[in-house]
Amino acid sequence: MTLGSPATQLIAATTRTPASLRIPARLAAPEPGWVASADVIVVGSGIAGLTAALRLRQRVDRVLLVTKTVLSEGSTQWAQGGIAAALDPADSVDEHLHDTLVAGAGVCDQEAVRILVSEGPARVRELVTLGTDFDRGPDGEISLTREGGHHRDRIAHAGGDATGKEISRALIAALNAELNAVKDDPGIEVLEHALVVDLLQDKDARVCGVTLHVIGEGQIDGVGAAQARAVVLATGGIGQVYSATTNPSVATGDGVAAALRAGAVIADLEFIQFHPTVLWLGEGASGQQPLISEAMRGEGAFLVDCNGVRFMQGVHDLADLAPRDVVARAIVARMAKTDADHVYLDARHLGKDFLEKRFPSIVARCRELGFDPVSELLPVAPAQHYASGGVRTDLVGRSNLAGLYACGEVSCTGVHGANRLASNSLLEGLVFADRIADDIAARLSAGELIPADPLVRVEDTTLVDGGERTGIQRAMTLGVGAVRSAYSLAQAAKNLEAIADSARGSTADPDSWETSNLLHVGQLLTAVATLRAETRGGHVRSDFVDRDDAHWLGHTYAVREADGFITTSFHPTTPQGPA
Ligand code: SIN
Repeated sequence: MTLGSPATQLIAATTRTPASLRIPARLAAPEPGWVASADVIVVGSGIAGLTAALRLRQRVDRVLLVTKTVLSEGSTQWAQGGIAAALDPADSVDEHLHDTLVAGAGVCDQEAVRILVSEGPARVRELVTLGTDFDRGPDGEISLTREGGHHRDRIAHAGGDATGKEISRALIAALNAELNAVKDDPGIEVLEHALVVDLLQDKDARVCGVTLHVIGEGQIDGVGAAQARAVVLATGGIGQVYSATTNPSVATGDGVAAALRAGAVIADLEFIQFHPTVLWLGEGASGQQPLISEAMRGEGAFLVDCNGVRFMQGVHDLADLAPRDVVARAIVARMAKTDADHVYLDARHLGKDFLEKRFPSIVARCRELGFDPVSELLPVAPAQHYASGGVRTDLVGRSNLAGLYACGEVSCTGVHGANRLASNSLLEGLVFADRIADDIAARLSAGELIPADPLVRVEDTTLVDGGERTGIQRAMTLGVGAVRSAYSLAQAAKNLEAIADSARGSTADPDSWETSNLLHVGQLLTAVATLRAETRGGHVRSDFVDRDDAHWLGHTYAVREADGFITTSFHPTTPQGPA
């Protein structure tokens, strides 16, 4: 489905959010002290950004890849489970399609999912050609496992539970080979320690570059402007908007926030996936928390409550391997019933040899933290894991803003619907980065995406002090967490508004830019979660406990208007997949 196609034009309701929700057009920052240029700028170095940069380099002259810390940081390297694709001859793209649509709870974009599952196997084989060392069985074939919501073994993994790390390694090695091969021809340049502050736009709102802060050397240091004919956002997730998340510290929603400020459509942001089995380290634990891969349940581990009772049987036909939203919801219900703040994962019967071989990183991390899955139950509870919504794109990654593309977790291609199917995210980054590179290359050759002059922005703007970060996270966790209600959402909106009101004259530095991004993303998420009066996928309302297809089968859009106010709207769709 393309943006603005008939199905998305069925706007049922457009509301202006409360007058208090105004978001500035840009973040306060010093004037750029340096200027760089390229044909295409790729922001982010997870699977989506690295793939886009590599593919673009083969097709366009000058690519600039910017990343917030170093190339190997970001969410991809934390991906444990793997990458889903119908690689087994007994499997089929139709079955992968079916499982994805079921997990997405009626609001996937079926066309986008078909692209994902049908192009996925070829893209995964290309990763192998590039040097990715997937785990293999005795027959030499890639060994495939199962995770929540899949009816087949179709998850390829590497290093047992270190799939993201291995894919990242292979892509970075390919990029380094490319960098060495083009030493005398600056065809691809990498800027590390580069935080994108905002998007540059011309007089027609066309995106033509980024402002960014670089901790660098020589000329490229401090705030600068990088201009280009197209920008690909691949900045990853928003997990740090919550107190506890599986996302790394760099996941501060910078891409979603910058796109929102520039006028991009942000879709379905209320659909936040809470991973069911995150190691529970106590009430006060905050920041990135250790993930216990769903693949452990795929291999036979199961959940029990504090009385040792298994509780997933009877909840869903896939029991402990039900889609993630179903398992997370059942855990929250069981914790409430038993008055406990966690449940347990029992993997002891899998045995020492198997656990150490199949899950070496998880076993090592658990032991470091004082838990041994070989001999003990692991305390687990749901924590934020993935944003299924983001910058709305069409099937080639274009946003509604000319020149702006989005790929990976920052985007909303429509493949995840209300709840991403396990291990579909690495696949999405891979498949859509490829399509984006093709589209940009074709448009550049056709003389589209011509260079533009960025406007000098003069609007008043504010920054939130870095000290407000924990206040934002607390407000979001209490009010817009795994279970929400009109009351909790109103409390969150009020607390976030108070933080926004206190935003005056803070120093422009990476901490305040990130914290301002967290605030803007948090406010938007709260607004769309308030709008959707039903429970669906990653959006669970205690005051509207049922899925309500009669009123809410569709997408929420949020846009910043020229005057700074946020407009939210609901766009019905036809049922996508089985009921
Ligand atoms: C996991 O290994 O459980 C996480 C994989 C994913 O988020 O798809």
